[in-house]
Amino acid sequence: MAEQPRFLIVDDEQEVCNFFSYLLKQKGYAAVTANTGAEASARLEQYNFATALVDLKLPDANGLDILREIKNVQPQCEVIIITGYSTVKSAVEAIQLGAFDYVEKPFVDINEMEHLLDRSLNVKEESEKLSLARQELGFVVGNSQKMLGLVSAAQKIAKKNITVLIQGETGTGKEVLARYIHSASHRCDRSFLAFNCGAFTETLLESELFGHEKGSFTGAAQQKKGIFEQANKATLFLDEIDSASPAIQIKLLRVLETGEFLRVGGEEMCKVDVRIITATNADLAAKVADNRFREDLFYRLDVASLTIPPLRERPDDIEIFIDYFLKKESAAKQIPIKLFTDDALAVMKKHRWPGNIRELSNTVAQALLLCKGALIDVEDLPERIRKNTAEPEQILQDTAEGKNSNGVLFSGIVEDGAGLNGLLESFQEALFESIKIRDGFDFDLFCRDINQWRDSLIAGIIEAALEDTYGNQVKAAKLLGITPRALRYHLQKARNNRK
Ligand SMILES: Nc1ncnc2c1ncn2[C@@H]1O[C@H](COP(=O)(O)OP(=O)(O)OP(=O)(O)O)[C@@H](O)[C@H]1O
Ligand SMILES: [Mg+2]
Repeated sequence: MAEQPRFLIVDDEQEVCNFFSYLLKQKGYAAVTANTGAEASARLEQYNFATALVDLKLPDANGLDILREIKNVQPQCEVIIITGYSTVKSAVEAIQLGAFDYVEKPFVDINEMEHLLDRSLNVKEESEKLSLARQELGFVVGNSQKMLGLVSAAQKIAKKNITVLIQGETGTGKEVLARYIHSASHRCDRSFLAFNCGAFTETLLESELFGHEKGSFTGAAQQKKGIFEQANKATLFLDEIDSASPAIQIKLLRVLETGEFLRVGGEEMCKVDVRIITATNADLAAKVADNRFREDLFYRLDVASLTIPPLRERPDDIEIFIDYFLKKESAAKQIPIKLFTDDALAVMKKHRWPGNIRELSNTVAQALLLCKGALIDVEDLPERIRKNTAEPEQILQDTAEGKNSNGVLFSGIVEDGAGLNGLLESFQEALFESIKIRDGFDFDLFCRDINQWRDSLIAGIIEAALEDTYGNQVKAAKLLGITPRALRYHLQKARNNRK
């Protein structure tokens, strides 16, 4: 007869030990108990365990230390942390350290508990299911320890109904990860709504998020449901959460605390059950320290925090992503697959990928289309990749030098200023020729368009500076010789224009 799975229960409350022993024996499993850390260590020497249930707070030890010990001496043993409600944050940390899950005292739902105990014995089956979900989503994990740990934590956190904050540079896959968390959660049959907070002005953002009543402001002809109402019982992904204004932050805090909010101009409380995942490529903790983001909201959002490492910190994954995007692109475009030469691969691995996986994916797609032969070689790669991006310090120096030389428009900033000016003149001529000034010519609209063009030029330069500083707004501002505040102002302006 196959040996019955053995569980270790470590809790200083004898009642908790008795409860689990009884439950486990009923299910036909073996149970061994320990009331202290020292006792737990002794049991670990005596027996092999399938799963251990470990209280976070013990008189002589910390549950996290016992978790580490178990993972050290019996890596195959799954660990479930037992915690009081007030220590959920440490329980989430435990998951990030490799715990299988956590349960909160008091135990209310026995069925759920039994299900959890069974699940801990079927980890393999569950991980096969999740690997299928990743394939369906097109979520590639790679082989780096950091990413493997992050994804393993993410899929466990997914099962809990807690808010998740995803941080990482642009293009690292924050939205992809958010979608994966949703698909690994109990809400996977419901919808996943993605919403970018940075894409709206303050007033519009409030009405988009929380909806409005008819007549609450000019243009509000009908009552409108906001995204929170649409996301009821589902998952809501709030991107660029750092761009929420103080007034919106207060409303968000309230929804997170109570599930309640008022529509704009409304008097009746709306109640929703929404799982919130947020993302940002700003350093939110630094914003809190600067009083630019509410601390209480930050703690509500940051119950589980996942930071995706930039691609340059996992160079061994570059080849995996190249293979993936080559296959994906050639299938989508119905062209034969091509391979990278060793030299081209070496150049790709040397690049710093400030735009991370998005940049890599675009580069592969472009190279595949432009390459004439059967192999993608160095010359098929964009110049930006071949020349191996200049260091930020060098650019700083170049711009400083450019600023000093005087001359006509653009000639102080670019090498071929005169050539560009020629182009600009032809553009003006073409523009004036095509504009017909007659009745109904909208001069204001014309000025608005020109201003938008100006703003987008400015934003383009700022985005380039951000790319060179890997998204660091403070460094990018320094590079341009402006304040971070001015930088954010210009970016926001361009975003508002894009709407
Ligand atoms: N792990 C991954 N596997 C496959 N594709 C990925 C992965 N990560 C990112 N991508 C691809 O890269 C692009 C950018 O991903 P995503 O939008 O999730 O990044 P992001 O971190 O949200 O970026 P931003 O901060 O600019 O919003 C998408 O096309 C996405 O499909
Ligand atoms: Mg995103």
